[in-house]
Amino acid sequence: MEIMIEADRISKNFGSVRALDSVSIAVARGTVLALLGHNGSGKTTLVNILTTVLPPSSGQASVAGYGVTKQPREVRKRIGLAGQFASVDGQLTGRGNLLLIARLLGADRQAARARADMLLELFGLQDIAARCAHTYSGGLRRRLDLAMSLVGHPEVIFLDEPTTGLDPSSRIGLWEIVESLVAEGTTILLTTQHLDEADRLADSIAVLSAGVVVASGTPAELKARAGQRTITVTLTTIEQTRAAKVTLAQAGLKPEMGRERNTVVLPMKTTEEIASVVTPLDLAGIEVHELTFGHPSLDDVYLAIATRPNNGQAAHMTGGPTVPPSAQRRGGSHERASQPGGPEPAGGPRRARPPAEMARQFRVHPGDGAHPAGSA
Ligand SMILES: Nc1ncnc2c1ncn2[C@@H]1O[C@H](COP(=O)(O)OP(=O)(O)OP(=O)(O)O)[C@@H](O)[C@H]1O
Ligand SMILES: [Mg+2]
Repeated sequence: MEIMIEADRISKNFGSVRALDSVSIAVARGTVLALLGHNGSGKTTLVNILTTVLPPSSGQASVAGYGVTKQPREVRKRIGLAGQFASVDGQLTGRGNLLLIARLLGADRQAARARADMLLELFGLQDIAARCAHTYSGGLRRRLDLAMSLVGHPEVIFLDEPTTGLDPSSRIGLWEIVESLVAEGTTILLTTQHLDEADRLADSIAVLSAGVVVASGTPAELKARAGQRTITVTLTTIEQTRAAKVTLAQAGLKPEMGRERNTVVLPMKTTEEIASVVTPLDLAGIEVHELTFGHPSLDDVYLAIATRPNNGQAAHMTGGPTVPPSAQRRGGSHERASQPGGPEPAGGPRRARPPAEMARQFRVHPGDGAHPAGSA
């Protein structure tokens, strides 16, 4: 297993602010690491250090086998970076931005045009390619920025909150692009505040809280640690809601009043348990308006892991302490049940690969003149 991104006890101080405190991560070739964390947790700082934008205060890091402080040029040749704040030049057109990067990376005119056209199409920007980028909406600018990070066929890509500001379909489009890149062997580190995004894309997740990795593991390990799934029962009136809570408690379940109006929330291990919720309510003549299934949200992760006392110790999830019940009942992302009996977790099958044609588009074309270099 070849490690393409490695941070070994990286710390970073900004004056008295300790933005990163002995952070260690490792990302194998052709895999995705999602760095999850709230505002100010240190995600961008780590990305900046790994992409040679900032020097660490202490610790070692390497990308594609090159030290970020000792061999920054070698690192930059191999990476693509889409930062949190788009580096698009507003005075140039969309196509102009892509051509500029391609030419800077050494592509000849024809190869640069071919690469720009391919990326414009991939990101759905063809129709506005001739417009100055300052006229683009935030989401379009974001897409152009992501396209720019791919111009040089980088081996390692850093995406800092890549889907922030994208509409739902663009978000899914980006996920598919990430999956196609990974299928090609590209290594990706992305930051996100959304557990569902990490769940869909990541092979491993590191949770940052106040500059410390407080948990790391696979998405499944993290979710198991963050809290179990829940069922939220929505009733029609407050009287029915109170009656439902009593009825479910009498049935031996552990209902709690939900945060939303007229809801009762119960922990759930498997979808088979739905009947044990619905049947007693039905027998008591209580009308269920809606059933929803909750997954742990990033808030749950934080409640369960990040805000625990003594979180200065990096806690690995496997075999760690169990989650306090108070953290299990918070609403995460929800999926609606059209019928009791069962949806599978949101996000569909993991790693559903997009068509091979899409994946193929990212190969380095012999003689296209573009060096395997990035836009960092
Ligand atoms: N150049 C800087 N000077 C001083 N403090 C900084 C600087 N850059 C970051 N910080 C501080 O370091 C901490 C981590 O910031 P960072 O931008 O890495 O967080 P983040 O996880 O990317 O947050 P967000 O989700 O808001 O993007 C914050 O407390 C921030 O205020
Ligand atoms: Mg950030």
